[in-house]
Amino acid sequence: MQSFKSQKSPVTEKSYTRADWQGGYQSLTQEFDYWIDDIEGQIPRQLQGTLFRNGPGLLDVNGQPLHHPFDGDGMISKITFTNGRAHFRNRFVHTTGYLAEQKAGKILYRGTFGTQKPGGWLANIFDFKLKNIANTNVIYWGDKLLALWEGGEAYRLDPYTLETLGNEYFNGVLSAGEAFAAHPRLENNCDQDGGAPCLVNFSIKPGLSTTITIFELNSAGKIVRYHAHSVPGFCFIHDFVITPNYCIFFQNPVTFNPIPFALGIRAAGECIKFQPNQPTQILIIPRFPKEGQEKIKIIETQSGFVFHHINAFEVGDEVLIDSICYQSFPEVEPESDFRQVDFEALSPGQLWRFYLNLKNGTVWRELIDDRCCEFANIHPANVGRSYRYLYIGAAHAETGNAPLQALLKIDLESGERQFWSAAPRGFVGEPIFVPRPDSEKEDDGWILALVYDATHHRSDVVILDASDFHKGVIARLHLKHHIPYGLHGSFTSKVFVKI
Ligand code: FE2
Repeated sequence: MQSFKSQKSPVTEKSYTRADWQGGYQSLTQEFDYWIDDIEGQIPRQLQGTLFRNGPGLLDVNGQPLHHPFDGDGMISKITFTNGRAHFRNRFVHTTGYLAEQKAGKILYRGTFGTQKPGGWLANIFDFKLKNIANTNVIYWGDKLLALWEGGEAYRLDPYTLETLGNEYFNGVLSAGEAFAAHPRLENNCDQDGGAPCLVNFSIKPGLSTTITIFELNSAGKIVRYHAHSVPGFCFIHDFVITPNYCIFFQNPVTFNPIPFALGIRAAGECIKFQPNQPTQILIIPRFPKEGQEKIKIIETQSGFVFHHINAFEVGDEVLIDSICYQSFPEVEPESDFRQVDFEALSPGQLWRFYLNLKNGTVWRELIDDRCCEFANIHPANVGRSYRYLYIGAAHAETGNAPLQALLKIDLESGERQFWSAAPRGFVGEPIFVPRPDSEKEDDGWILALVYDATHHRSDVVILDASDFHKGVIARLHLKHHIPYGLHGSFTSKVFVKI
């Protein structure tokens, strides 16, 4: 592998204003359904399919502000591309909590990340009921559109209308209240399934010890394998990676003190404490355990915090994992307002590669890029396999912590970077790579991303040629409104719009 040194342009002043950034955290209460007709450039006719996105659509309940954006009710956006045109639709996931709060016109539930019911600790004491907000990811798998949130059940939606159809229990394999995490990994060719695609996901059941359950679903959406593992201690695990033989989790060094949560003083997420002197534990779980093989292997590495991984793959006895690492967990302060966050005071997410030696149980890591970054994507055929290109949201400036305003393409073989920025008044979300039909080159396709445009207080769907960011956007689709900053989404080649 060649040098990972980046080619960066010097930046002398801040690339954004906080007031502009705050605009993307206003609630969107309206639901839309229209063909997008305000377009710069041209939508490639070969781009056929549907981009689904999920994220908190509401940052308040009838004017009562939420304490943290991660507590916001899930809203699905759907952008359908067909014959050079694009259609937009958005709709809230009708979770039990969303319906109850909209009917009551006030906050009825405690949020995981800091939102409390009005009325102080007395109104919250011994209330352990958390709201399934279905706001983190949305996938189309086994002919089902599913909105995902890691603390609870998936919600199934109609892919045409986005109407909520109810909870999904996968033919009774999952039971009421059992979680189905928001970060499934889709393996394109699963050896165990004769080369058919396979979706791998997990659930975390926290406690004094933690139970991690792994689910593998065939392309019909049926759970065909699942196995549970007990891990000592409290786990805060949001994401994982797979290879053809392993599921790999990073157990971040955090502790959880349940007492302030039980007493109604603090939300659950505010009771998590980062332990800088404790190691991160890397949990390696065989997907298809063989007779006599250890069920779980733990390798320790230095302290740090990972929300998201990018990919992993096996090379002989080694597993290589690419992850976005923070120096510590950005703890949520009870009295703080997330809109007033001091970006410069926080440590940025940075891209690292971990080399695990499964034979001798050692690990070392290498910095791929120190630019502040989050939300990565790769060619879908390479999940769990060696790969060359990754696409990631990045800060405009080369150093320091800042909102994501740019997209970065990294060639892991040559070390080349390609950079496209929406600064100063644009703020980007997760990029999604869509391969061009019948393409052979790994980067032959498009990057789709939502960009909040503070100048017009609206969002754009931007399309870049993934093989050449230097062309700039090849199409910019202006929506009639903004979409609050979202979390994750996915693309399917199926077209869900009535023409
Ligand atoms: Fe995530």
